[in-house]
Amino acid sequence: MKISAFKKSYEGKWVLDFPGFELKDGNICAVIGSNGSGKSTIAKVLAGIVKADNRRLPVPNDISVGYMPQKSFAFRLSTISNIRLSGGSEEEALVLMKRLQIDHLARKRAKKMSGGETARMALARLLIRPYDLLILDEPTASMDIESTALTEEVVSEYCRNTGCTVLWVTHSLQQARRVAQQAIFMRNGCLCEAGEAEKLLFNPDKTETREFLEFYGI
Ligand SMILES: Nc1ncnc2c1ncn2[C@@H]1O[C@H](COP(=O)(O)OP(=O)(O)OP(=O)(O)O)[C@@H](O)[C@H]1O
Ligand SMILES: [Mg+2]
Repeated sequence: MKISAFKKSYEGKWVLDFPGFELKDGNICAVIGSNGSGKSTIAKVLAGIVKADNRRLPVPNDISVGYMPQKSFAFRLSTISNIRLSGGSEEEALVLMKRLQIDHLARKRAKKMSGGETARMALARLLIRPYDLLILDEPTASMDIESTALTEEVVSEYCRNTGCTVLWVTHSLQQARRVAQQAIFMRNGCLCEAGEAEKLLFNPDKTETREFLEFYGI
């Protein structure tokens, strides 16, 4: 899946220059980089939440795109009704909730859930239907170790079963190494390095990428 080049400015101030990238179909691509490097901006532009400067969507326009924002959102409904807003039967929703270990919260008001529970609900709201491209912006940031591992497993499974391509923003290099086949390293609003995850996350070409990995202790 071809992601076209785009730039993004807010109120005339440049924040992002993305040169374009070929996401391999059915792969998970990790997006790594420091705070403010432009990761969420890429996610928002690809999801169509904000417009690129040229006002064009950089993804093919005939694909379905699912987006999980950095801050998960709950509607004023029960947890199961939140999930079913995207479609699916009650039974399908319950199967998915069980898989994500939130089935005991099905009838609970979604607004009353914890951060990690809300994130799993928001994920279930996406995974209840197929997408061509799924954009996850730090989906496990508020999750404990167990829920994080479960989420990695469930999303990888979803990819294998549906052929969906995933762009996964993460601050965890370990997570990127566990889930991703491709990776992008963002630095100061620019794409510094992109390619195979195995190469970028263990033996990168660029000094800046190497320094970033070393700074993170690996
Ligand atoms: N709505 C906005 N208006 C103005 N500037 C913005 C807006 N949204 C983001 N920015 C700026 O764009 C830059 C990139 O922000 P972005 O949210 O993409 O970073 P990030 O890599 O996701 O960071 P983090 O790791 O903290 O989530 C930052 O300098 C940020 O201040
Ligand atoms: Mg962000």
